[in-house]
Amino acid sequence: MTVMETTRLLGFLEERSQVDWLRALDELGPTIHPVDRDATRIWFAFWPLELRDALAGSPDPKEPMKIARLMDLEGNWRLEEQIDSAVSFLYGAHFWTRVKNSVLGEADATSGSLAPTIRSIAQKVGAAERIDPSLVLGIAAVGLMLFRQVGFERLERSKDTSAAPPLLPRDPAKVLAGRDRKSSDGLFTFLKGVNRKWDVRWEEKRTDGVFRAINGQDIAMAGGDTGSDYRHLDYRRPAGPVPVECRVGSCGYCWVGLLAGRENLTSMTSFERERLRYFGYDTVNAPDDANPLIRLACQAQCQGDVTLTISPWNGELERRHDQGRKKLGTA
Ligand code: FES
Repeated sequence: MTVMETTRLLGFLEERSQVDWLRALDELGPTIHPVDRDATRIWFAFWPLELRDALAGSPDPKEPMKIARLMDLEGNWRLEEQIDSAVSFLYGAHFWTRVKNSVLGEADATSGSLAPTIRSIAQKVGAAERIDPSLVLGIAAVGLMLFRQVGFERLERSKDTSAAPPLLPRDPAKVLAGRDRKSSDGLFTFLKGVNRKWDVRWEEKRTDGVFRAINGQDIAMAGGDTGSDYRHLDYRRPAGPVPVECRVGSCGYCWVGLLAGRENLTSMTSFERERLRYFGYDTVNAPDDANPLIRLACQAQCQGDVTLTISPWNGELERRHDQGRKKLGTA
């Protein structure tokens, strides 16, 4: 790819807003394989353009942390440091090296809209890997958005590396069966009634990535009951595998994406919906969906088994960004 072609592809992508990307996902959604259909939208919620634009627009280059502080960002919000780990919860991560290379070589495939460009990458990767392109359609969209956010040089530097292990099973049917697996309380499950316990798979790639929730218990509280400290994975996890601070919907630490079983959580309240909007986490949630993809773990109570994935960062994306820019005199 020549520098001019690279600029052309990036220029094409830079003209697309977050809304354009979400429209493309809506258009492609039915043709993305079920194993990655929700995972793809969750990735776009975890890595919205607004986050990248807020950080790139930091008014004081000598103090890049200033805008991060104003947005109360915690965890690791730098996508450029996580090119190969931020995609690992997608099934398509098996083909990540090929996807990156295909994105880097795709300058001439821009056709005026996003969906055909994404489809073109998926078809090329599918043909090269001899797989159904639907299996890589989601990660092709992720690859293009990641290119848009980290730029050519960073993606080029990582072009030979694979997605960070562990990855999901290679057989997509096995992944879907794992998400469908029903928990059991043993021989007397049928006698437990409201005292039943459910499986919360917080990291489906790990054999120990599951904890139990009492019927009606919220995800964050149930994770805390494990009595384990997960700060070796992420300093925001002092009590269980889910990041928490307030446990009452105030801090925004505990946002998660539901890969399966979202209908097994209590319906979202207007309070939780408002909090998600305040933090700017609600970009992929349908406005009236009572059981959307993105939830606050401290507000969602278990009434069945769920499989989730955890965002590596939290913060106040919308409001604090605006306030911060006003404070810094750049709004
Ligand atoms: S732990 Fe603070 S919002 Fe859930």
